[in-house]
Amino acid sequence: MKIAVLTSGGDAPGMNACVRAVVRSAINYGCEAYGVYDGYKGLVEGKIKQLDRYDVGQILNRGGTILGSSRLESFKQREVRQIAVDNLKALGIDNLVCIGGDGTFRGAMALNEMGINCIGIPGTIDNDIASTEFTIGFFTALDTAIDAIDKLRDTSFSHRRCTVVEVMGRNCGDLSIFSGIACGAEIVITKDTGYNEVDLLKQVQNAKALGKRHLIVVVAENITNVFDLAKKIQDNSDYEARATVLGYIQRGGKPSSFDRILASKMGVHAVDLLMEGIGGQAIFTKSLDVSHIDLDKSLTVEIKPSDLYQYLKKLN
Ligand code: F6P
Repeated sequence: MKIAVLTSGGDAPGMNACVRAVVRSAINYGCEAYGVYDGYKGLVEGKIKQLDRYDVGQILNRGGTILGSSRLESFKQREVRQIAVDNLKALGIDNLVCIGGDGTFRGAMALNEMGINCIGIPGTIDNDIASTEFTIGFFTALDTAIDAIDKLRDTSFSHRRCTVVEVMGRNCGDLSIFSGIACGAEIVITKDTGYNEVDLLKQVQNAKALGKRHLIVVVAENITNVFDLAKKIQDNSDYEARATVLGYIQRGGKPSSFDRILASKMGVHAVDLLMEGIGGQAIFTKSLDVSHIDLDKSLTVEIKPSDLYQYLKKLN
């Protein structure tokens, strides 16, 4: 059996760990593993190469994606996708693992309908795939945003300023709301919270009335121009205001422990499915709910996952 893997769309920390997991577990099952370079674009251009277990050595802890990535608008066209299918078939490859965000999943769905067994693995800093609680890369990007906002807080406090910071996420507010909680931001603006300039300026003035020395306002991207917003706050409140766009720094860096493990588990799970002849699936995780249990059961009822060793065996 032959299994190919690609990364597509915006890169995300942990994609490499996932590529490694797919390749290693495929080889450990006795399959041939293939890497597709530069996402769907590379698939159309026939950039497909067989990988051995050492081709994916030393990458678990690296940011970005060694396979490269791209966005290919024309992949929506059936005739373009047909070229990709033909390229895979020419190499006898029927199975494809697609790591990426929503655009990647749409591509995988379409290829699946055209006879390639596809599995989608959610890999994007945006955390905007509805069916999974978390995507690979989200927590690393969150750590990067938190680190940056903590630094902005230092100077914001010193200068008694209002700091407006734009966080990525495309149309999803998760990076903003999570970093807002983790950094103690006074105001978070996302598509979900809605954006009303008058209300916002009132909130800023209320903060001043409450005696707040400084203020952090986290704004999800694609809501408003944060430089204009900072100017309005400065002109209409008693705070000096400055804006910072965190930008692409959030996409890079070493994957966090969580992302390495999530990526490894998802990669193995994808190959397990393909080995059973199952395609057309999206991998998800649902694990970080906070709930409660009777105290007297808390040391005996097993909630902790106990299957990690099964994954480890497939990853070496
Ligand atoms: O999907 C990840 C992401 O970084 C989004 O947060 C952002 O809106 C977009 O990609 C930027 O895309 P590009 O790399 O094409 O500029």
